[in-house]
Amino acid sequence: MNAPHPRVRRLAELKQAGTPIVMVTAYDIVSARVTEAAGVDVVLVGDSAANVVLGYENTRDVGVDELLSLARAVRRGVQTPLLVCDLPFGTYEASDELAVTTSRRFMDEVGCDAVKIEGGGAIAERARAVVAAGIPVMGHVGLLPQHLAPGVPARARGRGVDEALEIARSARELEDAGCFSIVFEAVPAAVAQAIGATLTVPTIGIGAGAATDGQVLVFHDLLGLSLGRQARFVKHYAQLFAPMVDAVRAFAGDVRAHRYPADEHTYPVDPDQLAAFLAQLPGDR
Ligand code: KIV
Repeated sequence: MNAPHPRVRRLAELKQAGTPIVMVTAYDIVSARVTEAAGVDVVLVGDSAANVVLGYENTRDVGVDELLSLARAVRRGVQTPLLVCDLPFGTYEASDELAVTTSRRFMDEVGCDAVKIEGGGAIAERARAVVAAGIPVMGHVGLLPQHLAPGVPARARGRGVDEALEIARSARELEDAGCFSIVFEAVPAAVAQAIGATLTVPTIGIGAGAATDGQVLVFHDLLGLSLGRQARFVKHYAQLFAPMVDAVRAFAGDVRAHRYPADEHTYPVDPDQLAAFLAQLPGDR
């Protein structure tokens, strides 16, 4: 197998140095440019696009062509961070061949650096096949949004012994399959910490406490652009929804009051040119 790409290798270096890894999702050219300018380490084109960008109820609803299209937009704006793309629900679980084919589409059609998959067990075998095909894979354990049936609310995973052991098993399987990093979602901090201590690859938490090697948040959540009930782990670093509404409302007000456009927003024309044009313009005036 080839040596890992420097951007993939960098995550292990950050872990070794004890430097927390920063990961943020992005779905379009604006979020891509923001994450690039902010200097994050990893950008994830998450299937959370289903909820936060496309307005679907469930992450299962986003199709592979939809996510590929969003990922291509992100690729145009991201140069420095590691770019990881989620494989959408239904596009990798059934067979190793399917997992490799879909992963190749994200590598070839987007130019991403790695793909992310959800779950252990049979999914770890899919990860092994994708890694063997030379494609870096990030795993994901704990709460698995793709496994949530429509309408079933999300809840933390691993609060009981059996679930915690299952998460530990999945994480071990993913590491053994060659995943270069594993996301822990909605897992009690002490459980994530204990499992992380058994692994060598960097762990990235979302609602998994402070002991993981990195943290990830959804772009729209951290900027206060997501509506509705927020998970316990979400922290708003800005509240951008209301100012955006205010701005659009101000535009509407200006248009309706004939305040916009003003002279400075309007292209001038030479008076002689205008007079000649009007003289030749056909039609009754
Ligand atoms: O799709 C997504 O945004 C994710 C993160 C929550 C890790 O998988």
